[in-house]
Amino acid sequence: MPNPNIQGFIFDLDGVLTDTAELHYLAWQKLADEESIPFNHQANEGLRGVSRRASLMHIIGDRPYSEAQIEEMMERKNRYYVESIQNMTPKDLLPGAIALLDELRQAGIKIGIGSASKNARTVIERLGIADKVDAIADGYSVEQPKPAPDLFLYAAKQLGLEPEQCVVVEDAGAGVDAALAAGMWAVGLGPAERVGAAHVVLPSLEGFKWADLKAKLSNIARQKHSETSN
Ligand code: BG6
Ligand code: MG
Repeated sequence: MPNPNIQGFIFDLDGVLTDTAELHYLAWQKLADEESIPFNHQANEGLRGVSRRASLMHIIGDRPYSEAQIEEMMERKNRYYVESIQNMTPKDLLPGAIALLDELRQAGIKIGIGSASKNARTVIERLGIADKVDAIADGYSVEQPKPAPDLFLYAAKQLGLEPEQCVVVEDAGAGVDAALAAGMWAVGLGPAERVGAAHVVLPSLEGFKWADLKAKLSNIARQKHSETSN
């Protein structure tokens, strides 16, 4: 296998470039409290990268809510979440994020966002990174949520790239699976129990250097090649 010809990075947003996971959690917690449904931080961990509806279904379990009530609860949670992101600023970018975006841009690498969130555009604006991003795939872009590959394939298409030219950066297991299903390179941020299926696992973006990753991916490609040719 030749050296990977990486031309694009597709970043998940929530939990990768900014810690909105906590804001989603607080909004769900408020809703759960109002509905007297038990919920906590630990339960929220299972909702990383999960769509709004699927998250709510997870929280309500088999409680008999009507479709109208479900819709109303989704709207209510979103209201709380939207309120909380109004105060976001570029300071809410996670450590290492801006340095990496700038390094990639200087290297001529295209940058896309692949987020399940319908609020992704607002968050990108508030973080002040809209001018650093070439394409956005968000909660409105495709039908099938992660772990289906659709969202990342959509982002790659917007960037004008083939899947194998793209690196996905994800903090959720379902997101890593989606990247692999799309035939892309996957970088997982967080514990191995969550993102261990990725090609490369890192604790966070802090200190992340494109040059280091490039070397790692070349090694992996070489290893794969020797495994298949032996
Ligand atoms: C993902 C988040 O990015 O977007 C999930 O990790 C969230 O927590 C999902 O539920 C959908 O977001 P939204 O903003 O459309 O409700
Ligand atoms: Mg995420």
